[in-house]
Amino acid sequence: MPVQVVVADAATHLVFHDTSWDGTVTLREGEEGAGSGHDRAGTCELRMDGGPLRCWVMVGTPARVLRAWAALTGAPALPPAWALGHHHARWGFGSEQEVRRIVSGYQERGLPLDVVHLDIDHYDEHQVFTVDQDAFPKLPQLAEDLRRDGIRLVSIVDPAVKAVPGNAVYDSGTAEDAFVRDASGRLVRGVVWPGEAVFPDFTHARVRKWWGGLYEERLGQGFSGFWHDMNEPTSFAAFGESTLPRSARHALEGRGGDHREAHNVYGLCMARAGYEGLLELAPRERPFVFSRSGWAWHAALRRHLVRDVTTGWPGLRASLSLVMGLGLCGVPYSGPDVGGFDGSPSPELYMRWFQLAAYLPLFRTHASLRAGRREPWEFGPVVLEHARVALVERRRLLPYFVTLAHLARLTGAPYVRPLWWSAPEDRALRDCEDAFLLGDCLLVAPVLDPGVDRRAVQLPRGRWYDTATGRAYEGPGQILLDAPMSRLPVLARSAPSSPCAGRRRAGTGGVGTRPGTHRGGLVVPDTGDGEDEPEIERYVTRWEGRKLVVELEREDGMIASPRPVRIRGLDKGSAQM
Ligand code: NOJ
Repeated sequence: MPVQVVVADAATHLVFHDTSWDGTVTLREGEEGAGSGHDRAGTCELRMDGGPLRCWVMVGTPARVLRAWAALTGAPALPPAWALGHHHARWGFGSEQEVRRIVSGYQERGLPLDVVHLDIDHYDEHQVFTVDQDAFPKLPQLAEDLRRDGIRLVSIVDPAVKAVPGNAVYDSGTAEDAFVRDASGRLVRGVVWPGEAVFPDFTHARVRKWWGGLYEERLGQGFSGFWHDMNEPTSFAAFGESTLPRSARHALEGRGGDHREAHNVYGLCMARAGYEGLLELAPRERPFVFSRSGWAWHAALRRHLVRDVTTGWPGLRASLSLVMGLGLCGVPYSGPDVGGFDGSPSPELYMRWFQLAAYLPLFRTHASLRAGRREPWEFGPVVLEHARVALVERRRLLPYFVTLAHLARLTGAPYVRPLWWSAPEDRALRDCEDAFLLGDCLLVAPVLDPGVDRRAVQLPRGRWYDTATGRAYEGPGQILLDAPMSRLPVLARSAPSSPCAGRRRAGTGGVGTRPGTHRGGLVVPDTGDGEDEPEIERYVTRWEGRKLVVELEREDGMIASPRPVRIRGLDKGSAQM
């Protein structure tokens, strides 16, 4: 995604190089003598292999820049509320019994679980839109049982179709002339999980329509969401590029072209096919499609990104940069594989990854076929207890995540923001890559290195409260905070008009707030499935002597009685609603 965000003293700007061709960006530091450190003006050189010379530049504050970007590409999609909970995935569950065993493991230990993902091992010989009837003989029943317990099932969907007559998707795709061909009209074949495979040309509206209709089979199996994988597209190769040949032809919406232009938008076009198909098949549901590959416009068309990262401390650090970077490129919902995709994380690494991801938009444990276990109870009783705390906290923050999802849709602002988000002029914050803001209210300082039980935290301007101790700190400046294995340092901002939500499930209302004269926060309630516009709740708090008054301000300016609000950190009797 050729999007570049530059933070400088003058202003922040975003540049979008509007071509899907391959290219390189070279950043150079400024010449010696042209200033020092931050003052040195650098250069950025862009070389694209083809396409129009067209770029868009948005300038202003970070919030303004992202708002303009969302206006250009469409607002980020709103995930269903359940997708903001905890997901558990694994390549290689292997059977219905194993899925039930994992789910019971969560339930018996009282660990919140919202979503389970089935990877390619539930397919019949790895063929997309099929089910291995021996290992998963009653998939719709499994989906129904899980749903009754509040757990949704997500299906992997790969674009490669096994090239064998008798495979229903291959047969119908052949009848539809849906697959990518070369310049002489021969089908382009590759090798992916099911063996020799062909690839739908998603850059053709007719093909998207055909593919979108195939999700009917998935809905019939009881799946609620879809995970698009291998959609760069990947085709295994011993040498050269693991994708389609550059000469492969694509419709490119009627213009015609080759894979050099289509490669980067292949995943985007696949997501469009899935999304539009789902909208037709289940118009009352909010589609949930997330994807390994994507491009600009990705978020607007209800796609979200996910990525494997290598197990290890560098992988943990990379997962934060990835989520933060994607958010700045207009894809606010993303997340890594907790614990890393391969190998076996140490209990400490697993725990720190889990704690970080509990504050990221997509919170998903996932691992490769031969990787070690990723269930919280597999790392001993201490990790289990700490993981429980992280899971319970995530559930407690769910209304806040729903609010952030709506704000992303309304304003383009990512849920996860760099510390400089509201103070780009603060150079100390610009250098800080190991902490982030979750919305306007929370500052999360993850532990990204082994053996750490205390860490420095750079505070933006304002008053911040340590959510564990209640102690107040004044920013800007650096402080040292305890980071025991049991939790991450998380600070709450004391600021007017910041959207924040507290414990508010099943009818109880809440707003996180701290003493001050006039404070407030927004809560955007979940409206369930569908596209109903929610009524934004604006809570206003003020002190009357020693009494804290919390009121709900309605759009017409009237103060109405709010739902019950629970205030944390205040003596009983000092809050009034
Ligand atoms: C590659 C994906 O990145 C990974 O997450 C998945 O488990 C495997 N494909 C198997 O489907």
